[in-house]
Amino acid sequence: MDLGLKGKVALVTGAGSQIGFGKEIALLLAKEGCDAVAVTDINIDDAKLTAEAIKKLGKKSIAVKADITRQADVAALVKKVIDEYKKIDILCNVAGGIANRVQYDKAKPEDWDKDIHLNLHSILLTCQAVLPYMREKKSGAIVNIGSGSTRMYEHGAGNAYALAKSGVDTFTKQVAFNEAKNGIRCNCVAPGPAPTNFIPGPDKKGLVEMLAKTIPMGRGATQADIANATAFFASDLSGYVTGQILHVSGGSVLD
Ligand SMILES: NC(=O)c1ccc[n+]([C@@H]2O[C@H](COP(=O)([O-])OP(=O)(O)OC[C@H]3O[C@@H](n4cnc5c(N)ncnc54)[C@H](O)[C@@H]3O)[C@@H](O)[C@H]2O)c1
Repeated sequence: MDLGLKGKVALVTGAGSQIGFGKEIALLLAKEGCDAVAVTDINIDDAKLTAEAIKKLGKKSIAVKADITRQADVAALVKKVIDEYKKIDILCNVAGGIANRVQYDKAKPEDWDKDIHLNLHSILLTCQAVLPYMREKKSGAIVNIGSGSTRMYEHGAGNAYALAKSGVDTFTKQVAFNEAKNGIRCNCVAPGPAPTNFIPGPDKKGLVEMLAKTIPMGRGATQADIANATAFFASDLSGYVTGQILHVSGGSVLD
């Protein structure tokens, strides 16, 4: 099936982790037709590895170092991608994680700040930087990576991460509503637990298998599960779909 990605330029944040969703998404977008996939991460050495893997597929790529919570870094990142490829058709906001595990009964307001900076302010900054270029072309697709923890309370109970990701859901809808007239769509993929560096400790697969006992399909998510859903939202196949939160979590969230 043709996803309509030929000639498109994508920017994927959080694409450094070599076992993470961002790398898998970047590679899939390149395989499925994008001409160029720019990747960014706070860890530039890992982002370079991802860019090299994209180039091996015969597609263009640059790796740019950016702390996605810093406005100056994001502005420089987007300028670099525009200088190189002249446009950004697809923005995948993947960078994120749990910055603080303090539960609400013990949390100080400042304990919440780190999660809100990393998971919510980050996508505010990237969207603000990229949207003007998409508006100019009257076209664009933004995919935010949210989290099943907003609805699977056993996985998000009491921490600021789930609150920040709930903000990602609402922000997705705000952008979708306001930018529809500009030909820009914005959707969100909300993963269930998957064995990336997001999962603490050395035995990531073991921990995900343990968490998967409460998942109706009986397994955790794979990187490919999340990349496939993201590619759908990034592509013309979802051309009439905006403002949606797609839970990719094996039946854990059913409405
Ligand atoms: N893996 C899961 O179980 C799971 C479940 C639900 C949601 N998520 C979400 O999926 C997204 C991707 O995470 P992942 O699972 O691939 O984890 P990961 O830790 O493997 O990858 C996250 C990447 O983001 C980068 N990053 C972190 N802070 C950054 C910053 N300030 N600036 C730039 N880059 C930064 C990291 O260096 C890393 O490469 C995150 O938003 C996470 O919250 C993950």
